[in-house]
Amino acid sequence: MDIFNEKEKLTQTIIELKKQNKTIGFVPTMGALHDGHMSLLNVSKAQNDYTIVSIFVNPTQFNNPDDLKKYPRTEEKDIELLIKNGCDFVYMPSVSDLYEENEKAKHYDFGTIDKVMEGSSRPGHFDGVATVVSKLFNIVQPTKAYFGEKDFQQIRIIQEMVKQEKLDVEIVPVSIYRAVSGLALSSRNARLSSKQLNDAPQIYEILSKAVALKSEGKDVAEIKHFVEKEFAQSPFELEYFEITNEETLLSIEHFEEAKNVRGFVVAYAGDIRLIDNIKF
Ligand code: PAF
Repeated sequence: MDIFNEKEKLTQTIIELKKQNKTIGFVPTMGALHDGHMSLLNVSKAQNDYTIVSIFVNPTQFNNPDDLKKYPRTEEKDIELLIKNGCDFVYMPSVSDLYEENEKAKHYDFGTIDKVMEGSSRPGHFDGVATVVSKLFNIVQPTKAYFGEKDFQQIRIIQEMVKQEKLDVEIVPVSIYRAVSGLALSSRNARLSSKQLNDAPQIYEILSKAVALKSEGKDVAEIKHFVEKEFAQSPFELEYFEITNEETLLSIEHFEEAKNVRGFVVAYAGDIRLIDNIKF
């Protein structure tokens, strides 16, 4: 596996691959890699000649400088895991390889999709994500890029950015990778105590019960009420549960309002913010 720290060197390799008509799969990450990331790598490997993973903790997507400082950095372990899983290339740039000095995130107009849920709780976050992913796509020039559906809103943002900037890359959403218990894998799970880890699968259990209620004919308001009640009896503090149109990410009142509907939850285990979602 080749590791690149500078875009110029990576670009030379990419030019060579493109000359040979090779397809390039790309998995952008912020490191602290786990099996969820490896599932993205595996889908990419199955669909492309070569796969590039980037590891970059992007400063412009953190609205809280303390979160940026505290973000887990496990480079050596990440590299070992990538070698073990057969990754071809890793791009691990420094901030100055991607940003000019004092450069800020670009300001995008995403309509409604960055105003709701994670967009309203983390102002500026999605501008930062779109800015760095656009920079990375321009360097890596991937045929396809892979993103986990745990951050479903992020996928919608990236799809819009790609449309607005007319980039020639296919965005491939990959299903949430869950532990056998049902818990969605996340770098933040490493911070859970063993009691919290034991309790955390309740989040997916509640979401699954919510979907079952829809099959029994219950509508949005009843299901939201059910989820709120279940969280009130759980060890987690619910920040929000929204049932939305997958396209606009706007809340719906009745299931017949949208063809594709998804429920999104954010809940705290102590000070650890956990997110999950499920298709209805
Ligand atoms: O999902 C992430 O890890 C990040 O938001 C991403 C897409 C790598 C951009 O920094």
